[in-house]
Amino acid sequence: MKKLFVITLILFSPAVFLACSKSNTTTGGGPGGGAITFSCTGISPKFSTDVQPILTTVCSINTTCHATGTSNSGGPFTTHAEVFAKRSNIRAAILAGVMPQSGTITQPQINAFICWIDSGAPNN
Ligand code: HEM
Repeated sequence: MKKLFVITLILFSPAVFLACSKSNTTTGGGPGGGAITFSCTGISPKFSTDVQPILTTVCSINTTCHATGTSNSGGPFTTHAEVFAKRSNIRAAILAGVMPQSGTITQPQINAFICWIDSGAPNN
């Protein structure tokens, strides 16, 4: 009986290991390829100087993306009002790594956008 148990263990341990290792794989492509994280240490990002430049250079680059005139579910992100209205979707989309859909967003840009939203997304 014990022999059978040992044989079974030897036979199935690789499968168990593979199954376990799969569940640890992170999802969402962060700048480093791993899970997306952010830090607000030492920064107090403002809409005008920190977020608006990200909208212009990363998100609202054309009407397929979030420029004025886009018809996608995200909508245009060119004014404070448009971004404020979608701030929780934006936070979720960035941290899930689904946006930007093309191009890249750097770690300092992720920190600025998320920390600005978490500070109440003021029009500053
Ligand atoms: C950091 C920059 C960006 C942010 C914050 C952002 C945010 C979002 C959000 C919040 C949505 C709506 C998701 C929902 O339905 O809840 C969305 C959808 C969408 N975005 Fe973006 N986006 C960014 C960049 C881009 C870029 C560069 C493109 C084009 C290449 C793009 C194309 C789209 C499209 C086509 C959709 C519609 C849904 C889809 O097809 O997945 N976005 N985005």
